[in-house]
Amino acid sequence: MLMRKVAIVGVGMTKFGEDWKRGFRDLILEAGKKALEDSNLHGAEIDGLFCGTMAPGPLIGQEHAGALLADWMGLNPIPSVRVEAACASGGVALRQGFMAIASGLHDCVVVGGVEKMTDVSGADVISALGGAGDQEWELFPGATFPAIYALAARRHMLEYGTTEEQMASVAVKNHLNGSHNKYAQFQNPITIDTVMKSKMVASPLKVFDCSPVTDGAAALVLMPLEKAKSHAEIPVEIVASAQASDTLALHDRKSLTELNATKVAAKKAYEMAKVRPSDIDVAEVHDCFTIAEVMAIEDLGFVKKGMGGKASADGKTALNADISINTSGGLKACGHPVGATGIKQAVEISWQLRGQANGRQVENAEIGLTHNVGGSGATCAVHILKRAD
Ligand code: COA
Repeated sequence: MLMRKVAIVGVGMTKFGEDWKRGFRDLILEAGKKALEDSNLHGAEIDGLFCGTMAPGPLIGQEHAGALLADWMGLNPIPSVRVEAACASGGVALRQGFMAIASGLHDCVVVGGVEKMTDVSGADVISALGGAGDQEWELFPGATFPAIYALAARRHMLEYGTTEEQMASVAVKNHLNGSHNKYAQFQNPITIDTVMKSKMVASPLKVFDCSPVTDGAAALVLMPLEKAKSHAEIPVEIVASAQASDTLALHDRKSLTELNATKVAAKKAYEMAKVRPSDIDVAEVHDCFTIAEVMAIEDLGFVKKGMGGKASADGKTALNADISINTSGGLKACGHPVGATGIKQAVEISWQLRGQANGRQVENAEIGLTHNVGGSGATCAVHILKRAD
């Protein structure tokens, strides 16, 4: 039984992209400062810091990130925790912050996510990301993440008749949404042809089916809902926080075309929030590859199993269509600084619920969902957010 309701009272993020001017610590500092300013709070009022970051060791040679971030943000001596759950590090950090406030142990926490990925070679990035899967059974024999999701795509095509063009439509929609987001890495609209003619990465996935390599950070300020009104004109309540796990290795899964961790976390989240999938107005889902968005909208219950490709190609997930998916541009166009993604999703949904998503606003958005996946689906965090004015 939860003791307290939890609200987001401040949000902030950096522009996502390849950033040559700023380092790891500068990125999270900028996002954290923006979130604090947005909440009209001072650093002295923060009593805890939870930060998602997946691989600062291999990517920038820095461990002990919790200590670095509290130090650099001027928040010592409050407790500061690095949270690691591969690409779901941000979503899991948000859940840690949620539990800290809900339990009554903390009164005001910053929850962040950050990754600096472009300071090493492409091969080193692939190797660092590969550690999110089963190192012995997948990365060592050569199965990179594009290859793992390519297996899922091939199987989905076989079982449900999903086509490469249908998957391409996910990228086209997300690039269009990203073109209205000044924080997105890619702000250029593309066509189906752009995707189909792009370089093959792991058949059938081409460059434009993949999320890019990105630098970026995002942050949120959380406090009890009862105190939120004095800090935010429109507080955003976190009405559900759920997490589930699955096997690390793909070969141990029952199915290649669904993520059980998504299904379990989603079911728990819907029960906790007392809503149904059809009540969700806007969702940020984990589209690390186009096939991942196809499976996510099925596993989250937005469309029937097997119909994700068709629904995307038919425009049902476009801005202000049946359900608005990835209005930020998603991982595909907004970018995917892995540890920051789960927090960025909550930043975007907060802007949507506050009516501040300039140029990509979902009309009358009241309930939103975030879906953050680690690796090929061994971790999943789902949050449901609600406008609370
Ligand atoms: N979508 C669109 N354009 C992309 C892109 C992507 N995913 N990745 C790179 N580009 C563009 C770059 O902006 C650059 O454009 P420019 O020449 O106009 O500047 C060009 O392609 C070449 O960039 P480069 O970084 O050399 O690409 P690459 O071929 O080394 O890498 C991928 C492309 C797809 C292999 C790489 O982005 C990748 O590995 N993505 C997957 C990341 C991942 O696995 N994340 C974790 C998911 S679980």
